Amino acid sequence: MEKKELLYEGKAKKVYTTEDPDVLIVSYKDDATAFNGLKKGTIVGKGAINNRMTNYIFKKLEEKGVPTHYIEELNDRETAVKKVEIVPLEVIIRNFSAGSFAKKMGMEEGVQFKCPTLEFSYKNDDLGDPFINKYYALALDLATEEEIDAITRYAFQVNEVMKEYFASLNIELIDFKIEFGRYHGQIILADEVSPDTCRLWDKDTHEKLDKDRFRRDLGNVEDAYQEVFRRLGIDK
Ligand code: TMP
Repeated sequence: MEKKELLYEGKAKKVYTTEDPDVLIVSYKDDATAFNGLKKGTIVGKGAINNRMTNYIFKKLEEKGVPTHYIEELNDRETAVKKVEIVPLEVIIRNFSAGSFAKKMGMEEGVQFKCPTLEFSYKNDDLGDPFINKYYALALDLATEEEIDAITRYAFQVNEVMKEYFASLNIELIDFKIEFGRYHGQIILADEVSPDTCRLWDKDTHEKLDKDRFRRDLGNVEDAYQEVFRRLGIDK
C-alpha cells in the first residue's frame, strides 16, 4: 500500500490518499496541541505509540462486534484505514468526573459516576467544538436519528470493552473522546484511541498517564505515554 497525495493535515495526524478510493493512509505525528491549538509542543515517540495503541484496541473492539476503520498497520506510524466521511460529532464518554465536566459542575476530579455518561461536541475548530445534544445534531442535520442511535450504542459498548481492558492493566478509564464515520452507509469507529484522547489514571496512585500531563504542564509527558504502551504489552 503506497501513499499518493496528502489529503489533509490535522493537529496530530496526516492523511494520504492511495490507489484505492476506499482506502486512506493515516500517519501519526509527534506534534501535540491543546486548547484548540493555542498550546503547541512535541511529545517524542507519541506518533508511534498512538498509532500502535489505536490499532491494538481497534482490533479488540472489532472482536467484540464494534466495526472500525482499521485495515492494516503499515509501520510504526502509519496505518491503512477505510475512507469514511467523518460525522462531525466528538463523542465523549465519562466514568469519573474530570476536565471540563468537573469544572462545569463545580466538582473535584476523580468522583465515580453512578453510571457512565455521554455527551456530544460539534466538531468545529472555529467555534471551539461547542457542546451540543442530539436535538441540535438533528436540527443542524449533522447526522440522522438512526446514525446518532448507532453512535450512542457503539460508544457505550466501546466504554465497556475499554474499561474492562484498562482495568486489567491497573488503569482506570476516566473518560475518552471518539469519532465515527460513514462507510458505505454504515456507522463505523474512526480516528484514534490513545493517551491523546483518553484520561487514563493509575488505579492505585491515580497518577495521570495521558495528555493532561502536557495540557497542565505536569512533566514526564513522554514517560506517561511509554508507561501506557508498556502496560499494553504490544511488543510481547
Ligand atoms: P474534557 O473534559 O476536556 O471535555 O475532555 C474529555 C475527554 O475528551 C478527555 O478524555 C480528553 C478528550 N479530548 C480530546 O480527545 N480532544 C479534545 O479536543 C478535548 C478538549 C478533549
